[in-house]
Amino acid sequence: MKVVFAKPSLPEKGVVVVGVLDGRKLTASAAALDKNHKGALTRAVKASMFKGTKGQTLTVLAPGDGKISRILAVGLGKPKEINDLALQSAGGTIYAALNRVGATAISVLVDDIGGCTFKAAEQAAEIAFGARLRSYRFDKYRTKEKKENKPVLKTIQIQCAGNARAKTLYQAKDKISDGVFLTRDLVSEPANILYPETLAKQAQTLSKLGVKVEVLGEAQMAKLGMGALLGVGQGSIRESKMVVMQWNGADKPAKGKKAEAPVAFVGKGVTFDTGGISIKPSGGMEDMKWDMGGSGVVIGLMKALAGRKAKVNAIGVVGLVENMPGGNAQRPGDIVTSMSGQTIEVLNTDAEGRLVLADMLWYTKERFKPKFMVNLATLTGAIIVCLGNEMAGLFSNNDQLSERLTEAGNKVDEKLWRMPMGDVYDKMINSDAADMKNIGAGRGAGSTTAAQFLQRFVDKTPWAHLDIAGVTWSKSVKPTVPRGGTGFGVRLLDRLVADHYEKK
Ligand code: BES
Ligand code: MN
Ligand code: ZN
Repeated sequence: MKVVFAKPSLPEKGVVVVGVLDGRKLTASAAALDKNHKGALTRAVKASMFKGTKGQTLTVLAPGDGKISRILAVGLGKPKEINDLALQSAGGTIYAALNRVGATAISVLVDDIGGCTFKAAEQAAEIAFGARLRSYRFDKYRTKEKKENKPVLKTIQIQCAGNARAKTLYQAKDKISDGVFLTRDLVSEPANILYPETLAKQAQTLSKLGVKVEVLGEAQMAKLGMGALLGVGQGSIRESKMVVMQWNGADKPAKGKKAEAPVAFVGKGVTFDTGGISIKPSGGMEDMKWDMGGSGVVIGLMKALAGRKAKVNAIGVVGLVENMPGGNAQRPGDIVTSMSGQTIEVLNTDAEGRLVLADMLWYTKERFKPKFMVNLATLTGAIIVCLGNEMAGLFSNNDQLSERLTEAGNKVDEKLWRMPMGDVYDKMINSDAADMKNIGAGRGAGSTTAAQFLQRFVDKTPWAHLDIAGVTWSKSVKPTVPRGGTGFGVRLLDRLVADHYEKK
């Protein structure tokens, strides 16, 4: 979908979108259009339940005798309550409402609104962002879909005062959307197409944006002593991989000064999780194609940061494996040695994500000594029991990092809820046979015992773990998130970086 920002003018043909405020108060463009059509919009509003509240829409077909085919009125709510998230939602709602009406291009008229802190140009950029996010569709394997069922809306023209500024404001958001779309693509791909090697290839495409990408195979990981990750992948015919991405966007340090420590993001990339020998029940197992969601977010985030040339040094590390049963698969009871030297008794081969992350976190900490590490993982079903599909679980050893993450999440509507950690939970993963076991004693506090496991591989590094099992895939539609892969985490971490770790 293409977005064009143009000077304000009253269109004489096509599909036109205007805003209406709470209490049926027309914006300036809505009033002008209404006047041009002898009050058709006012009459339609009066004849309907449309009040101009947030999220409402009203369609007026073929008003007057001109060439305007359709007016879409969008409720904006009260001027004081119009903010970036509300505008993004409006953009998404506009896209969804007009996607299938047959028009290939539409005009959205955006005005300055008294009492609203967002100028027309700022509103325009947010509306465009929301529309773009909603326009995502994964349909590459649908070869027989009827043409009339395919979206035809290709161009959104947004008309506002300060259109050049709107275009500038939108540029970064466009790059963030590119990152979100990559993440959604990756989680949507089935596991016969996307496996460690092909996922690593996808990460390598970021090199054309200036990201340094290294791919390590099993031999190199064995040399590094990554027995925890390798054990998970050993039952698969697909070779395990890890990918290290570096975006060096911060200004070069002054002569004689050392480069600033980078920020680091680490992702679980289980391209399919059968559970291994501790095999999962077959019902719903297809969902485990998106068990690489954490790595998808890290790769999408690196694309967003590099795309918008963020002034930050950022590291992305992903551990890529397929968890399969088989003649060479890891057995319950096996003891593996991680890169850290700590030994792990693998009591359940389905608790594999933490094994992969153990080596990735240790490697990242040792090699890069980052300011902080944030890892993302579809780690536990238990977090869905806790938080449903609404929020991701946040586990951390650092209050400041937790607060910054929570705040960034609230700003972009990717919400986090901090969960407890502590010694009483840490004890639960002690093992008689090795330094630790990969599951707790019973089913209680399953998300926390997983987090405690990860914490044993981060030392003193400020660290946060986001358990995104409940938010990576969506069965319902939100204004800016279609069904399927959500890309949850990309906007959040981009915002975290922009607000706290980027030199402006
Ligand atoms: N990938 C799963 C967690 C998961 C479940 C993600 C549902 C998304 C939706 C993870 O590897 C897993 O199997 N976890 C086990 C841990 C248990 C064996 C301690 C779980 O949650 O049941
Ligand atoms: Mn599992
Ligand atoms: Zn898993």
